[in-house]
Amino acid sequence: MYIENIQTLKIGNLEIGPPIIQGGMGVGISLSGLASAVANAGGVGVIATAGIGQFEPDWDTNSKEADKRALQKEIRKTRDKTDGIIGVNVMVALSDFDDLVQCAVDERANMLFLGAGLPIRLPKTLPLDRLGELATKFVPIVSSARAAKIIFKSWEKRYGHVPDAVVVEGPLAGGHLGFKKEQINNPDYALEKILPEVISVIKPYEKQFHRSIPVIAAGGIYTGADIHRFMQLGAQGVQMGTRFVATYECDASPEFKEVYLNCKKEDIVIIDSPVGLPGRAIRNKFLERVSSGIKETFKCPWKCLTSCDFKNVPYCIGRALTNAKKGNLEEGFAFAGANAYRVDKIIPVKELIETLVEQYLAVAMQQSMVAGMPTQNA
Ligand SMILES: Cc1cc2nc3c(=O)[nH]c(=O)nc-3n(C[C@H](O)[C@H](O)[C@H](O)COP(=O)(O)O)c2cc1C
Repeated sequence: MYIENIQTLKIGNLEIGPPIIQGGMGVGISLSGLASAVANAGGVGVIATAGIGQFEPDWDTNSKEADKRALQKEIRKTRDKTDGIIGVNVMVALSDFDDLVQCAVDERANMLFLGAGLPIRLPKTLPLDRLGELATKFVPIVSSARAAKIIFKSWEKRYGHVPDAVVVEGPLAGGHLGFKKEQINNPDYALEKILPEVISVIKPYEKQFHRSIPVIAAGGIYTGADIHRFMQLGAQGVQMGTRFVATYECDASPEFKEVYLNCKKEDIVIIDSPVGLPGRAIRNKFLERVSSGIKETFKCPWKCLTSCDFKNVPYCIGRALTNAKKGNLEEGFAFAGANAYRVDKIIPVKELIETLVEQYLAVAMQQSMVAGMPTQNA
């Protein structure tokens, strides 16, 4: 009897094995440290751009330039540490979305993940009639088949090109969620349900454009058995966030990681983010102050998010997340996935990926033994 190897994820000329993408985590949680470690372990390491310029000295006076400069530096730093596959995550809601996308393309990031909003239009500065010739692969993050349909239709019409892959993020993910609050616990919106729906929307485009368009599952994936389960449901890879926070290489402070180690299931809550979306986070004194109605006074020189009503929101999310990243959880809070309470130790990225692959293979082996026949070699 022989056992399948873990299938690789192929996106155009890129081959990712094991098929694990580290989800982009702003503000400063996934930078070059984490991204390079994941890429060196064979996955896709992703730099998040949300708030990336906050660590530059001129952020208060020159935020857009600070963002661009910081992203360029971070991509180059990552490249210096790895020959593996690296990506950049840009939230559509960022007011400098265009500049950051252009910067990632100029720096030849292998992949560009576009989330927190529908990337219906791309920056006019890109060669829009030759998107398929760019070194960078475009991967929108969606939470419904409807969103995938809107993006694909729009790109087909505008650019004669469709995305290279799609991430489907379900309601158990950390950070901002693409669901209404009442949908989060409704089984009709579970990842198991929306993943096959997105796959069926994408299928006709694979035929039309004569190429495979892999669908990647995200949100609540914690073990190698979870990876196996979603790949059996049709995903060709997974994106994981929470597990990568609990690694030595994650760019967050030790205090931020400690919050993951210490939290309980009931501490993981849904908040109303000033971005205008629900978000999943770990409850603490800061969030309790906010929910009791206490409002911070702050000035917003940046307007970093197009959707933030900064004159009326109770706090600045950029600042709160920067504080948390740096370890000041009195004046900030940690975003986390629904499974963060299961984290019990911090480990190296390489060990995490090896464990996930072992767990995946153990399930594959078990299944092939039950079926009494050799599994297919991928
Ligand atoms: C701390 C944290 C920050 C995140 N920041 C972003 C972000 O800036 N952009 C984004 O598209 N997704 C963000 N996410 C979502 C992750 O990229 C990932 O898709 C999600 O967490 C997957 O679910 P999991 O954490 O259960 O694995 C964030 C998640 C966490 C936990």
